[in-house]
Amino acid sequence: MDKNQAIKIENLVKSFGKGDSKVTVIDGASFTLQKGEFAALVAPSGAGKTTLLMMLGCVLEPTSGRIEIGDEVVYENRWSVKDDRELRRKKIGFIFQAHYLIPFLNIEENVSLLPLQNGESKKIVKKRVKELLEYLGVGDKLHNMPSELSGGQNQRVAIARALANNPQIILADEPTAALDRHRAVSVVKMLKKITREQNVSIIMVTHDDRLLPYCDKILTIEEKKIKMKENVDGVIV
Ligand SMILES: Nc1ncnc2c1ncn2[C@@H]1O[C@H](COP(=O)(O)OP(=O)(O)O)[C@@H](O)[C@H]1O
Ligand SMILES: [Mg+2]
Repeated sequence: MDKNQAIKIENLVKSFGKGDSKVTVIDGASFTLQKGEFAALVAPSGAGKTTLLMMLGCVLEPTSGRIEIGDEVVYENRWSVKDDRELRRKKIGFIFQAHYLIPFLNIEENVSLLPLQNGESKKIVKKRVKELLEYLGVGDKLHNMPSELSGGQNQRVAIARALANNPQIILADEPTAALDRHRAVSVVKMLKKITREQNVSIIMVTHDDRLLPYCDKILTIEEKKIKMKENVDGVIV
């Protein structure tokens, strides 16, 4: 196993339903993403982007194939980890289109929730959450409620929350869809910076071609398989 690899899937298959109503959405997908790489996942609506992300996030069980996260085989024709919830909490961060912050908790409490659940000490979590929010440019919002922040600010908080458990990978499903272009670019630049500075790998679903120049790899779903292209000095090859 390559110690620089963050995600590796081999021959991944996902079908829904049985018999006549069986639909295969992903049919033998393979790719590898290295640590610190930022990948965009671009494909038409209904192509299976969310399905793929949810399998990588160990939320949705594949039909067959193999998934490795870091140096661990998490799925090989069945889950090979004892506790998939623990794996999710410890290795994976999620960012969604809507921020899904808890409305009755303030910003600090929202971002602290997961690491505290993971049993980390209150003192360490407090320090880390403050640093993260400062890093994301919302350090002054610690004691505000989500309803007091703008859409872009809440999405930055959601990114801080995804980073709060020191994940190895971040899965982002259209994280900029609800933002205007200026804010979308600023969020994507932030995600890129995170991959470089924290050695985290990110897969981001997007419909916005203008964001692709910020990504290292472009994943597409073609004929139910994954194709990977590379961004070499701004040219996608
Ligand atoms: N739980 C499910 N049961 C049956 N079909 C599903 C389920 N989830 C997704 N699908 C189907 O899988 C296909 C891919 O869906 P999805 O991954 O959400 O696509 P995308 O995110 O690219 O728009 C769609 O045809 C969708 O109807
Ligand atoms: Mg989707």
